[in-house]
Amino acid sequence: MKIAIGSDHTGFYLKKEIRAYLEEQGHEVTDYGTDSPERCDYPVFGERVAMAVKAGEADRGVLICGTGVGISLAANKVKGIRAGVCSEPYTARMTRQHNNSQIIAFGARVVGIGMAKMIVDAFLEAEFEGGRHTDRTALLTDIENRQD
Ligand code: RB5
Repeated sequence: MKIAIGSDHTGFYLKKEIRAYLEEQGHEVTDYGTDSPERCDYPVFGERVAMAVKAGEADRGVLICGTGVGISLAANKVKGIRAGVCSEPYTARMTRQHNNSQIIAFGARVVGIGMAKMIVDAFLEAEFEGGRHTDRTALLTDIENRQD
């Protein structure tokens, strides 16, 4: 699978570990930064990964900041993108199955490497269930389309 990964400074070291983990599994991973632990701004990297997924450069995205919240908010500003914040694998699986999220986000100050690996595994293994959930994701798109 083609995976876009990004983080701010707080997620820099966890991103490196998750990138290596995904590559070991045979995924093609593109790193959209940040490239050092120097302080930086999470919206930049949330947008970059979301735009890569939207453009079809990646099938899925992985985003990491301190909590996962800020960087997911940035990604969710990109039209058509659904990014779910998770701190355990159940939610990671469900945000694929029910929300058809293309991006998973989590916090480097919240989860350790073991949990982070379980989260990405659950997210990448799950598929959208369709059915009634398609109507609900369509309602999310309606909200986007009613904005200025
Ligand atoms: C950076 O200090 C922190 O605010 C950021 O990583 C993230 O947690 C924001 O949601």
